[in-house]
Amino acid sequence: MARAIAESIGPGTRVGSTQEITPDVAASATLLVVGAPVHAMTLPTVRSLDSVGAHPIGPGEVPAEVGHPLMRDWVAELPYSDAPAAAFDTRISGLVGRGGVSALERLLKARGRRLIDRGAGFVVINRREIHQTASLLREGELARASAWGARLATLR
Ligand SMILES: Cc1cc2nc3c(=O)[nH]c(=O)nc-3n(C[C@H](O)[C@H](O)[C@H](O)COP(=O)(O)O)c2cc1C
Repeated sequence: MARAIAESIGPGTRVGSTQEITPDVAASATLLVVGAPVHAMTLPTVRSLDSVGAHPIGPGEVPAEVGHPLMRDWVAELPYSDAPAAAFDTRISGLVGRGGVSALERLLKARGRRLIDRGAGFVVINRREIHQTASLLREGELARASAWGARLATLR
């Protein structure tokens, strides 16, 4: 999702995990877009990632990357600035499918960031149940992410 959004924002947009892009480096961005999966109606915690990491995966499946800094800690470490920002999450559909974006927006605002658009939630279809580690995007969500990225580029 992040790559689709970044591509639509335009050339020169960097995309990476909380490991690859430090809060200090992100602080120099002219537009900061952050995203995370919804876990237990909010952002992932050490505990929720432990449960993802411990889940057995099938042959040929890419193991979940659970060793990166938590997004909640990463945003909290951003240098204070009123630079433009936006947030997104990935979630399953339905009533439990929210909470990531609102938590991210709260954290971004606490670091002074100016939210330039309503946060976006992109829906994944879990193959058996929500605790499955690997998920499939619902049809059309990648296109929606691209459209949102293009919109952010016009708003910044
Ligand atoms: C421990 C755990 C808790 C989850 N809790 C929720 C939840 O409360 N609401 C929701 O919409 N999705 C929930 N999900 C589904 C994830 O949001 C979904 O798998 C994720 O967005 C897909 O991204 P990923 O493949 O990068 O993990 C949960 C998944 C896990 C593993």
